[in-house]
Amino acid sequence: PQIALPKALYPGRENSSGMALWDESELGRLGEVFARHTGDGWTAGPDGERQPIVNPSDTRDIVGQCANFTVDQVSDAVARASACGWKDTSVEERAAVLERAADLIEAETPALMALAMREAGKTAANAVGEVREAVDFLRYYAVQAREVLTDGHAPVGPVAAISPWNFPLAIFIGQASAALVAGNTVLAKPAEETPLIAAEAVRLLHEAGVPDDALILVTGAGDVGAALVADERVQGVVFTGSTEVAQLIQAELSKRVSPDGRPIPLIAETGGQNAMVVDSSALTEQVVRDVVASAFDSAGQRCSALRLLCLQDDVYDTTMEMLRGALAELDIGPSTRLCCDVGPVISTEARETIEAHIANMEAAGCRVERGALAEKAAHGTYVAPTVIELDHIGQLGREVFGPVLHVVRWKRGGLDALIESINALGYGLTFGVHSRIDDFVARCADRIEVGNIYVNRNMIGAVVGVQPFGGCGLSGTGPKAGGPLYLGRLVSGEDTVRRV
Ligand code: SER
Repeated sequence: PQIALPKALYPGRENSSGMALWDESELGRLGEVFARHTGDGWTAGPDGERQPIVNPSDTRDIVGQCANFTVDQVSDAVARASACGWKDTSVEERAAVLERAADLIEAETPALMALAMREAGKTAANAVGEVREAVDFLRYYAVQAREVLTDGHAPVGPVAAISPWNFPLAIFIGQASAALVAGNTVLAKPAEETPLIAAEAVRLLHEAGVPDDALILVTGAGDVGAALVADERVQGVVFTGSTEVAQLIQAELSKRVSPDGRPIPLIAETGGQNAMVVDSSALTEQVVRDVVASAFDSAGQRCSALRLLCLQDDVYDTTMEMLRGALAELDIGPSTRLCCDVGPVISTEARETIEAHIANMEAAGCRVERGALAEKAAHGTYVAPTVIELDHIGQLGREVFGPVLHVVRWKRGGLDALIESINALGYGLTFGVHSRIDDFVARCADRIEVGNIYVNRNMIGAVVGVQPFGGCGLSGTGPKAGGPLYLGRLVSGEDTVRRV
């Protein structure tokens, strides 16, 4: 098998259709081919005891090493960021730096793809998307900064940017670049599982012209994030992760105000219990294709992923039959193979949590259907995609961050009550609807309380600038990432932001 990638990324490899072709064995070796260092590859963090970063696709593969910050080192980093004169640069200078970084990151696509595949277990397709989204964020926020910011505005900073492992480059860069272009210095803490790609991103941002003290990589686990948030000199927090941690951050920030008496701003993008409603007019083949993508792409490790499929009674059995067939066709296993549909979950611990949920649901009497793991999957942290049939939404429980789809039946006349019970889950991130009846779609869209609605398509993969992404309720504070309101939250005083 071969994979086609834009030829600009692979000079000399293009074929007549203008694409560069890599065969599978080469793709599997990308990590080694592009490794910047010998030995265990990449490194991140300060000097000190280094911990191995493990490839979830094959846990025998040590991708690199990371040393975590101590609490004292966090404090020193905040001091450096506080003393940096980045805010005195012009909007134009900062926007130009982001655009240079976008070019550098685009040129490093193969190495960054390899790192996303090895460190985060991404499939090749997801790794391309990861790099593209990072580049999109940089270019989008550069353009936005020129449109909405004025040179006289005051950044809030220093800002702590705390990012997740599921988009270890895209969200890391999205958060940091937005804060930087608004004139803030940034303490960027990647997830402890994925510091290496973040270290590469910081190296490239520095190369593009961000001063060392304006963007500091702060490696570590939750205690390091907590030390950053608790530091009184930190004047803003951007966080993507769980609702529980967002609430802890909010509680910590509520203990202090800025030097001019304002609350410390928090942008939080958290979880979801995302639903899709399907009526009897929907095209079953299209529904199944979009359900599989929404629930199982990225091994379900997207906050946008579909967790609860609501099928109208009349089409329940036929849709389920086709869905079971699609489940049996999925290729689940080493994600360096191009035929792989579903890669690993991030860690052994994550796998155990997901498997425990599935076992509990089975013990509670739910019908459970699972895909089959490919051969050679034994060395990674794979979870076979799973479909769990519920009797009612009340059985759903907490968000399970993996390839697990729950399905419920709803009956004609029950739409309003269904939407009400989805809203009552308290989250509000994404929602999908499949129907060929415009009034049905409009009725769902009017009543559902979410940030992003997807009609007759899959419900993942929001595009920067086109589909600004973010939710309400337990799913986050807004403003949407990759949207026109985001930068306004990172400067002090509304009057300093031009209305567009
Ligand atoms: N932005 C991602 C998506 O839309 C989720 O974080 O799938």
